[in-house]
Amino acid sequence: MSQNKDYVLGTDQIELNRLKLQHDIWKPFVLEAWQRAGIKKGSKVIDIGAGPGYASFDLSEIVGLSGEVYAIERSSNFTNYISHKVESENIKNIKTFNLDLMVDEFPEIKADVSWCRWVACFVSDPKLLVKKIYSSLNKNGVAIFFEYINYRSFRLIPQTEELNSFVEHVVSNWHESGGEPDIANTLPIILKEEGFKIRFTKPYIFSATPKDIFWQWPFTFVYHHVDRLLELGRVEKDWVESVRAVLDNSKNNPEAFFITPTVLEIVAEKIS
Ligand SMILES: C[S@@+](CC[C@H](N)C(=O)[O-])C[C@H]1O[C@@H](n2cnc3c(N)ncnc32)[C@H](O)[C@@H]1O
Repeated sequence: MSQNKDYVLGTDQIELNRLKLQHDIWKPFVLEAWQRAGIKKGSKVIDIGAGPGYASFDLSEIVGLSGEVYAIERSSNFTNYISHKVESENIKNIKTFNLDLMVDEFPEIKADVSWCRWVACFVSDPKLLVKKIYSSLNKNGVAIFFEYINYRSFRLIPQTEELNSFVEHVVSNWHESGGEPDIANTLPIILKEEGFKIRFTKPYIFSATPKDIFWQWPFTFVYHHVDRLLELGRVEKDWVESVRAVLDNSKNNPEAFFITPTVLEIVAEKIS
């Protein structure tokens, strides 16, 4: 069993590596979003559900020594990874908080911007999350979210029974763990109720063949997540092997392509 049952995708070395690859692939879009939200030298930024801190490390470079990054994360595997890197690389502007966003007191911080990617979709109470973000932002502070708005746009073409059933297993498992994959449908409403104004939204959906860099994102997720579903007792070994066989065939088919799950960028400003 995985050491941390609390996070539906796991927190082991494979997930740590997958999050790095995912971060690198998404980086150009993320840098644009950060710029749009006004992150600059001297900014104070909260990284909500920071994972192993890949965004925090990039933010640390952008905000410089006059700024600060607050990495908040529940998994101690991930916060240990951040703390180790902070210490070994003598990074002065990242503070790490090992806490549960739903249960624990939020640290007393006041930031200019919050960054929350693929976290609101896992929490049991997104409204509580937004309230906590609200109270930790300065007046006119900005909250950025990258969250799914249509997970089921995810498919492999040519379509197969195996990949289609994979997507359905992921969505069911997600719901049963208390999360909502398509949380970006309701986030704008919650944000408005909690005193934010939506400044900007942008959907991201990609079509990627085996030679495209974006191919790696869905491919590695499916490849490893089938083991997670097996570990959780949701599927049988035969099913895992049949999904992997589809993936192996598809990567040698130049006409195959993934359509990715749809992500929505939301940039909201605290107004009251
Ligand atoms: C898909 S990962 C995304 C990590 C990072 N935001 C990124 O984009 O690379 C989701 C992260 O949210 C964290 N998380 C989920 N629920 C949490 C909670 N209630 N409190 C703190 N962290 C949580 C998980 O431990 C995991 O690190």
